[in-house]
Amino acid sequence: MIELRNIHFSYGDGFALKGFTLAVEKGSFNLLVGANGSGKTTLLKILAGLLPIRSGTIIIDGRIATDADLRELCCYVLHNPFEQIVGSTVEEDLAFGLENLGLRSEEIQENIETALKMFQLSEVRHANPFVLSGGLAQKLVIASLYLLKPEIFLLDEPTSMLDDTGVEELLQALRELKQLGKTIFVSTHEPKIFFGLATSVIHMSDGTIDFYGGIHEFLERRFEDVEC
Ligand SMILES: Nc1ncnc2c1ncn2[C@@H]1O[C@H](COP(=O)(O)OP(=O)(O)OP(=O)(O)O)[C@@H](O)[C@H]1O
Ligand SMILES: [Mg+2]
Repeated sequence: MIELRNIHFSYGDGFALKGFTLAVEKGSFNLLVGANGSGKTTLLKILAGLLPIRSGTIIIDGRIATDADLRELCCYVLHNPFEQIVGSTVEEDLAFGLENLGLRSEEIQENIETALKMFQLSEVRHANPFVLSGGLAQKLVIASLYLLKPEIFLLDEPTSMLDDTGVEELLQALRELKQLGKTIFVSTHEPKIFFGLATSVIHMSDGTIDFYGGIHEFLERRFEDVEC
């Protein structure tokens, strides 16, 4: 179980999160929707351990999670994959985080092979990642993060730079993560794209949550600030 209890956060003036409370099951696929400025990105960054909470608690599997715990358990995927790629080939990018962890080179190679197969990147293994399509680049970012063994994937508007083929590539990667039992949060202004995979929808309004439930129930509510 992943629980956020009464989370407050401020960038300076006023509060971007005002008493946000939510509990989701591990392995759930949660869509985060709401108007511009409602606090979606802030919430994802807090879960990723990238922003300090002003007050409130995050509890994972019954234990209070520190920022350091969150940085280990969660990974944050930027909407622009090219800002998150570090290797000069696909293989190098996959190896980068593992090298930092000090894994032996045979172990790194095994991991790379697994990720290439799992995320269907074998054909581009020697390619320069910066010439890949947006969809393949997004998959590479997800694959590289996957190798660091996070439990929770946080994606911030992952389709905003993708064409239709790219969206298909992304969905393929997310399907894989879901099958592996990872918990997923996707902030999006295009929730429809994910309805086939999502297990719940979280609607945010002015720094708080005003709906959490299934897709059917969400659609019945007809929120004016979300296009479906
Ligand atoms: N770096 C920042 N400094 C100051 N205020 C910020 C900063 N980032 C966000 N905010 C403010 O915090 C509030 C929540 O913003 P946030 O980016 O989390 O919303 P969002 O739901 O992700 O919006 P969008 O749909 O446009 O991405 C807004 O009022 C925003 O102006
Ligand atoms: Mg945002």
